[in-house]
Amino acid sequence: MNKAATIRPLMALRIASSRLRQSAARSIAHSTLLTRRGLATAKSPINLIDSLDTFTDRHVGPDDNETGFMLSKLGFDSMESFLAATVPPQIRIADSMISNASIPALSETELHLRAKELGQKNAQFKSYIGMGYHNAVVPPVILRNVMENPAWYTPYTPYQPEIAQGRLESLVNFQTMIMSLTSMDIANASLLDEATAAAEAMVMAYVQSNQKKKTFFVDKAVLPQTISVLKTRAKGFGIQLVIGNAADVLKHDALRADLAGVLVQYPDVNGFVTDYSDFTKQVHDAGALVVVATDLLALTLLQPPGEWGADIVLGNSARFGVPAGYGGPHGAFFAVTEKLKRKMPGRLIGRSKDVTGNPAYRLALQTREQHIRREKATSNICTSQALLANMAAMYAVYHGPAGLERIAKKVHFLTQILKFSVERLGFRVVNASSYFDTLTIDVSKHCANAEVMHAAAALLGINLRRVDHNTVGVTLDESVGQADLLSLMRAFHIAASHPEPDFTGLPAPKEPAFPQQLVRESNFLQHSVFNKHHSETEMLRYIFHLASKDLGLVHAMIPLGSCTMKLNSTSSMIPLTWPEFGGIHPFAPTEQVEGYRHIIKELEDDLCKITGFHACSVQPNSGAAGEYAGLNVIRAYHDARGEGHRDVCLIPLSAHGTNPASAVMAGLKVVPVKTHADGNLDLEDLKAKAEKHKGNLAVFMITYPSTFGVFEDGVTDACKIIHDCGGQVYLDGANLNAQVGLTNPAVCGGDVCHLNLHKTFAIPHGGGGPGVGPICVAKHLAPFLPSHPLVKTGGSDAIEAVSAAPFGSASILLISWAYIKMLGGNGLSESTNVALLNANYMAHRLAGHYSLRFKNKNGRVAHELLIDLAEFDKAAGLKVTDFAKRLQDFGFHPPTCSWPISTCMLIEPTESETLEEIDRFCDAMIQIRKEAEDIITGKQPKDNNLLKNAPHPLSLMIASDKEWNRPYTREEAAYPMPWLREKKFWPTVSRIDDAYGDLNLICDCPSVEETASL
Ligand SMILES: Cc1ncc(COP(=O)(O)O)c(C=O)c1O
Repeated sequence: MNKAATIRPLMALRIASSRLRQSAARSIAHSTLLTRRGLATAKSPINLIDSLDTFTDRHVGPDDNETGFMLSKLGFDSMESFLAATVPPQIRIADSMISNASIPALSETELHLRAKELGQKNAQFKSYIGMGYHNAVVPPVILRNVMENPAWYTPYTPYQPEIAQGRLESLVNFQTMIMSLTSMDIANASLLDEATAAAEAMVMAYVQSNQKKKTFFVDKAVLPQTISVLKTRAKGFGIQLVIGNAADVLKHDALRADLAGVLVQYPDVNGFVTDYSDFTKQVHDAGALVVVATDLLALTLLQPPGEWGADIVLGNSARFGVPAGYGGPHGAFFAVTEKLKRKMPGRLIGRSKDVTGNPAYRLALQTREQHIRREKATSNICTSQALLANMAAMYAVYHGPAGLERIAKKVHFLTQILKFSVERLGFRVVNASSYFDTLTIDVSKHCANAEVMHAAAALLGINLRRVDHNTVGVTLDESVGQADLLSLMRAFHIAASHPEPDFTGLPAPKEPAFPQQLVRESNFLQHSVFNKHHSETEMLRYIFHLASKDLGLVHAMIPLGSCTMKLNSTSSMIPLTWPEFGGIHPFAPTEQVEGYRHIIKELEDDLCKITGFHACSVQPNSGAAGEYAGLNVIRAYHDARGEGHRDVCLIPLSAHGTNPASAVMAGLKVVPVKTHADGNLDLEDLKAKAEKHKGNLAVFMITYPSTFGVFEDGVTDACKIIHDCGGQVYLDGANLNAQVGLTNPAVCGGDVCHLNLHKTFAIPHGGGGPGVGPICVAKHLAPFLPSHPLVKTGGSDAIEAVSAAPFGSASILLISWAYIKMLGGNGLSESTNVALLNANYMAHRLAGHYSLRFKNKNGRVAHELLIDLAEFDKAAGLKVTDFAKRLQDFGFHPPTCSWPISTCMLIEPTESETLEEIDRFCDAMIQIRKEAEDIITGKQPKDNNLLKNAPHPLSLMIASDKEWNRPYTREEAAYPMPWLREKKFWPTVSRIDDAYGDLNLICDCPSVEETASL
């Protein structure tokens, strides 16, 4: 067929579809708009041959008619004129920079085909590499109903406990599981990974010595990635890290005198299980802390460190049902003794009671958080690994203590069989005297070198640990069955040129293969919750029972300012749980992970295009970890130029608490910079401070648009001031959702920025994590990007690792990759435009009801808005919390409360919310404003009213008339808007008493006796 003949029908189709589109785009009244939402015609394709499953139309809530309507309400006749009034012209970039030409768009179907194609480029080897990572078996009931369930993965950190009791209970299960298995007094609700958990422990030991003792000793059989991360962290605090034989540490008097703590691994990287009880006593005699990195499954059989006196116990919980995922995300655990509990980093869930006296969970001891402590904080943990901790907890609930012990015994038994088998061939097992699941095997008897052994294993699709020239490592796990064991044995037989293996003649293991005195004698997980949900039906119901208590994006918008809670599309989540991506060990040889590497490279390239920077590292596991990594990169840059003395970090008072905390951790001195009453940075103050510290200025940290929700005109001037004084500019990219396609951190004047992929790039927040905080940097900083001890990453002059895994939480990078690829450049830009429009429309609707704290000279906000509630406190004693709790009665998650200003709410709708949802939220806010008015004018008493008594759970609704005792009806309390009749989300408890919970700190599940008395 000739070319013209094919083109003609295509053109006819295009013209027809363009006519269809024009007729659909006529102006429609507001009410009609709302009833038409959701119709396929509302978002027509450009022509009839284009894919219909275009992601932008699904991701961006408002359609063309709705954006047209919102623009007209704001007085603009086009999106461009609105943007011109919102974003300073001097920082705008050309449209072509982020367009479908620079980032082409794939349909949802095309994305899945592409992901499949790349997934198949990851070789499906069975890895026995160990080193802290295993092939976890995810129970299908947990995979489908927790990991793949948006009711579990879309909620935010449980800052609003009345609508988060489900995951709070599950996190308490996690804490209880850790306390019980480690035999420690208290555990937190997860940290980012084992290596950073060890770094937190090291700093705790240092702080515990009142920062007087500066030596931290690490046994050389600790995981190498942990040692690398410790080196990075030690630098910032001036801690002297000594790596050697734990047995020798106390022999050196000078070292002993300055010793803050010791870290040992139990079982260690080579598989040895060592009795550290005497050693612990000696370390304590030297006035230092004992920190133990350990393995939860091993602890079902081994004496727990708490029983031999450890002070801090930590590790990775991922072998409890979380896929390896090329390194994560995984929930690290962290447990301490009673005396250290108030210094413990990370989130802690505690039991308290609500105003009616019912037990209820909430975040405990929040004053430890960096939001409050800022530069006095010694940890910057904000987002951690809630979803993964919940998965691990559910795994323990499902298997129970007996099930866990059975799994551990099987793993240990198979490891013993393997040992007998390789010894029978003449190989030497280096740790024959003690092991749980790991053997270190000297293969020199039969192999010229270890490579021969690796090659034999590779023939059978097996990866072993590379130890040294003569030695390999093998770690078994729950996934290993008889066939796997035979295959593993066959690999050794091939290397030994020996005929086929079999089990005949192998001795049956009778005793544990570790010292008798280390056999666990104590019970664990006796609590009721770990002993009743073992059938799949019961487990399913427990998972859904908890999920029903939590408000997530599956219910309503979560307009948390600075958190960007947008659509986490199912299409971008689907590849995540494919085995092609889930089953990959982080230290698998590079040639086996071509698919992953390709995706990571594409993501890094796209992030560089979006930020305007030169290079990217995806290693940091959270925004705060990104800050820390970026600041270390800057320090290394100054150092390399002979300016290592530069250690002053300027930070505006409005900055997020993680900024000053990260700066201190990187060894910087924080100098605060003022902001003006209009929310803008005080450039005079910045200039004065930059000049005052000119000789020592290292960096200025700025969030843009600012945490006050405006694009400041002066950002480029601010960056110039810093550069003129020899400093670098760190741009906190938490608000990047306001920038993509319109401006970028490089154009604003930054040198480095972190991005919260769990905000702008649609990784779900998981109820408090996971997150990914990659850093993008200008060319001059690229050489310093973080390295990794086992896999080549980073630049030519790289800093040590900042995370345990080379590419951090690699598996969830797929989500952001898919998000960017499906939106393409045009969709990314459109998302930003609509995010700005939604926020401004919201500001417009709330105007006259609430005071908008900051706007630009054209009256515009950025992608979020700050409303000030101070007047209500003055008039009637109504606090931000009262408004927030009342919003729960309307079925909404409250916005960010009391940050960055204590009397304010920071509201961020994002582009994914439709006009209808935004209107619903504004209607709720306006109704609450009326209720507040009744309190101000005395129609309702100041101490007994709809706001002060909020939220109103169902249990209150069935109170007797006598108990009700309120000057308003039940209907006013529970159904203040008509749409609540159809769409009601019930908080499960009344307002929770925080102070009571902190004074009476209880952080584990009720015991069997307590459960019986409830
Ligand atoms: C402005 C800003 N910076 C940094 C962070 C820290 O990010 P993460 O919670 O991922 O550590 C946040 C988190 O809310 C933030 O809003």
